[in-house]
Amino acid sequence: MAQEIPQQPTATTQKTWSQRFDSALHPAIARFNASIGFDIELIEYDLTGSIAHAQMLAHTGIITAEESSQLVAGLEQIRQEYRQGQFNPGIEAEDVHFAVERRLTELVGDVGKKLHTARSRNDQVGTDVRLYLRDQIEQIRICLRQFQGTLLNLAEQHIETLIPGYTHLQRAQPLSLAHHLLAYFQMAQRDWERLGDVNKRVNISPLGSGALAGTTFPIDRHYTAKLLGMTDVYANSLDGVSDRDFAIEFLSSASLIMIHLSRLSEEVILWSSEEFSFVKLKDSCATGSSIMPQKKNPDVPELVRGKTGRVCGHLQALLVLMKGLPLAYNKDLQEDKEALFDTVKTIKACLEAMTILLSEGLEFRPTRLAAAVAEDFSNATDVADYLAARGVPFREAYNLVGQVVKTCLATGNLLKDLSIEEWKGLHPAFESDIYQAIAPQQVVAARNSYGGTGFEQVRRAILVAKAQVSAS
Ligand code: ARG
Repeated sequence: MAQEIPQQPTATTQKTWSQRFDSALHPAIARFNASIGFDIELIEYDLTGSIAHAQMLAHTGIITAEESSQLVAGLEQIRQEYRQGQFNPGIEAEDVHFAVERRLTELVGDVGKKLHTARSRNDQVGTDVRLYLRDQIEQIRICLRQFQGTLLNLAEQHIETLIPGYTHLQRAQPLSLAHHLLAYFQMAQRDWERLGDVNKRVNISPLGSGALAGTTFPIDRHYTAKLLGMTDVYANSLDGVSDRDFAIEFLSSASLIMIHLSRLSEEVILWSSEEFSFVKLKDSCATGSSIMPQKKNPDVPELVRGKTGRVCGHLQALLVLMKGLPLAYNKDLQEDKEALFDTVKTIKACLEAMTILLSEGLEFRPTRLAAAVAEDFSNATDVADYLAARGVPFREAYNLVGQVVKTCLATGNLLKDLSIEEWKGLHPAFESDIYQAIAPQQVVAARNSYGGTGFEQVRRAILVAKAQVSAS
């Protein structure tokens, strides 16, 4: 009978946990299991978290002050090595946490093996991801502020520029272009606030939760939290190591940012088409076609629109990842990282690209915009409002204007083309001031209700927006 030969992979990988194991991990499984290829992104945060942990171990007398100093010095040295491009752990390290611990032991000797006292990779990785996100969220908020600043500048230049306003993508009522741009400012303002709110829940320390149940050592969790600038500690160790709500909240807020950018992108794409011709794309932000020499393509907004799917996908991925996970840590959670890293990179790149596009990549075409608002029936509501203001019940006025529009469409006229006799024939309340009332500039100016497109409102909104941006 053939003897059973134990599987011995040729390229063995020495593991930190190898004493419990008789044979090494299969090389393909080692690759499959490893996260070092992407979680190296966390290294600075891992080092910061480990330094705080080492300091706490001395503070509580679990290790000596001398040992703690050696650990901290070694960790700082790894930081330098990494920043100088000299720390490049391979697959054998499995993940960034093992990589750092191993290098630390090489650098400071056996004391390096004390770093992991009273800690698990489960609370460690949770801490790293939170420190990473806390930092990235603040960076994204700065990008949002720059984007808002560009929208504000553009709005200030275009208070009196009119643009057709749409509902159902049908011409509805004319708008101040500034009002249209400020709508995106408001979305970005909510995004900025939302991220600030998410960060409150990101900035809670799970460190000291151990693998899942806490630790037998007399640690001081509030001490590490304080060192790390975190506002509180997780009250429950199981929750501490397995919660990813904060990551889902971030991905959800990130998806909303992308959706806002994508809507603006869609508008820029439409506006730059021959059919709309509301904006001209500058060469610095447009590309040509390899075959059609006349083309100038809006690649920037198209890419932003496209990348929105990617970010929303990451949100979906993490939601599905979490839904069936029993407490506490499960390796599935390793899958949260690429979603977060890619989202952060994508959001920053999209905000930067859109900021450049708005500040220097496009030009509104005032003549074309002015013609567009003068050539339609988007002042029809104002005729009805005119009559209603003179005592005609609105619904009656509305019906009458509907008939006028129908007749105009049949005769090829616009409302402004009707003679005063024709107006009077329609209703005796019409006076010669009807022409002024339906001129596009007046149509916009008249919408002076709070939050409306009236120039006075827009000027006020710009002042408020400026104060909001400079308050932070
Ligand atoms: N690389 C792992 C992750 O990203 C670190 C935590 C590993 N914990 C464990 N119990 N295997 O989730």
